[in-house]
Amino acid sequence: DGTRILIKGGTVVNAHRAEAADVYIEDGVVLAVRPNIPVGDDNVRVIDATGKYVMPGGIDPHTHLAMEFMGTVTIDDFFSGHAAALAGGTTMHIDFVIPVNGNLTAGLESYKQKAASSAMDYGFHMAITKWDDEVAREMEVMVKEHGINSFKFFMAYKGSLMVTDDLLLEGLKKCKSLGALAMVHAENGDAVAEGQQRMIDLGITGPEGHALSRPPILEGEATARAIRLAKFINTPLYVVHVMSIDAMEEIAKAKREGQKVIGEPVVSGLVLDDSLLWDPDFTIASKYVMSPPIREAGHGKALQAALSSGILQLVGTDHCTFNSTQKAFGSDDFRKIPNGVNGIEERMHIVWDSMVETGKISVTDYVRVTSTECAKIFNIYPRKGAILEGSDADIIILNPERRFVMGAHAHHSRSNTNVYEGRKGKGMVEVTISRGRVVWEDGVLNITPGSGRYVRMPPFGHVFDGIEKSDAAYRSSLRAPVQRGKAAA
Ligand code: URP
Ligand code: ZN
Ligand code: ZN
Ligand code: ZN
Repeated sequence: DGTRILIKGGTVVNAHRAEAADVYIEDGVVLAVRPNIPVGDDNVRVIDATGKYVMPGGIDPHTHLAMEFMGTVTIDDFFSGHAAALAGGTTMHIDFVIPVNGNLTAGLESYKQKAASSAMDYGFHMAITKWDDEVAREMEVMVKEHGINSFKFFMAYKGSLMVTDDLLLEGLKKCKSLGALAMVHAENGDAVAEGQQRMIDLGITGPEGHALSRPPILEGEATARAIRLAKFINTPLYVVHVMSIDAMEEIAKAKREGQKVIGEPVVSGLVLDDSLLWDPDFTIASKYVMSPPIREAGHGKALQAALSSGILQLVGTDHCTFNSTQKAFGSDDFRKIPNGVNGIEERMHIVWDSMVETGKISVTDYVRVTSTECAKIFNIYPRKGAILEGSDADIIILNPERRFVMGAHAHHSRSNTNVYEGRKGKGMVEVTISRGRVVWEDGVLNITPGSGRYVRMPPFGHVFDGIEKSDAAYRSSLRAPVQRGKAAA
């Protein structure tokens, strides 16, 4: 600490503005953003950013580090996952705490242990997998004492994480009362189980059976159902990993009608298609197994367009990595292939290359969808998601002229595979600064386990703006009840 850095000569990009300016950092915090800041003294480290973009570090709203899932544990933990993130220009993420036997407190304890090795800042969402009075009480404790302001409900994974509509309704009500955001994994888990059995009966046991067993209509159905239930309760809804046109159109419709629905596409859904699930090599095909599945070509382009137009608001990764040995658990039955793909290291580069470089979004929108929107939704803006006086110094310097080639040879994930193997593009994060420390520079990581901080996220963020008012409007819109007084005796 005591480190002082001056980033000179770059274009500073915030979601609201791009400007030629210098950035002065001291003790992990941005102290000044303006043109021509003088160097001062010899103890200030000067970084030349001429011709480059100086932007808030990425915030990944959706990851699963060290998660116990489908009989195994994701291979990236809170150290290797953070190494990968920082090398890719992401300086914060929000991971999903999975309760232990439905117990939230035990789940949080276990995730605190996992996060002891953290090398960058992180926050938590929490999954809700069962319902009783104890869970409802614990949700309140999570919000009021532990800085968690979002809860995820899995409408899929029948037999393990899946919730039924009665639980979802209880959860939506509780979220609303606590000012916490309800999140859904939207696939119809009962129909998925039926679809899987159908594939097995047809003798389709390979990874392609995964895609065939859970088609877009099942994602569309669950998305529509969750949106309608959230409307009925009148509380905001966040739909994670929107993978299909079907789901995206439900979100678009709800938004047109003024409902507070947030749609999160993930990188894999934006740029990959399902053709690789038909690769004859199981090791290749199984890499792409995630839920909801990567869709047929066409869905990704439509999701990109929805991101450009604002129907979808922020990009996550759903980073949930397994190596080829773990994926091989399902070599005779796709239902046993651990679900999940990488992305925490690739997100910033892929969104830049496929969206900014191609002119589909502006540089300011890039910052919005990769960082600022997440900080605003989860109520930690402008400490995170901005380069403003007083913001945490989580900053990246991107060189728009440098080219990259992705793959397991270069990545920092512990997995031996990468779904973006061989992908080429333009625009490279050359420097990553995490709370004032230069942690990635010239292709070299300099990180310390335990240096990350837990970021508490307060309830009642701006997604709740107007909810009370619309509740009142609803009550006053109800037709007056009929007075059926007992006939006087
Ligand atoms: O396949 C996926 N997405 N694995 C991670 C768990 C989830 O559903 O988010
Ligand atoms: Zn999910
Ligand atoms: Zn996920
Ligand atoms: Zn607001």
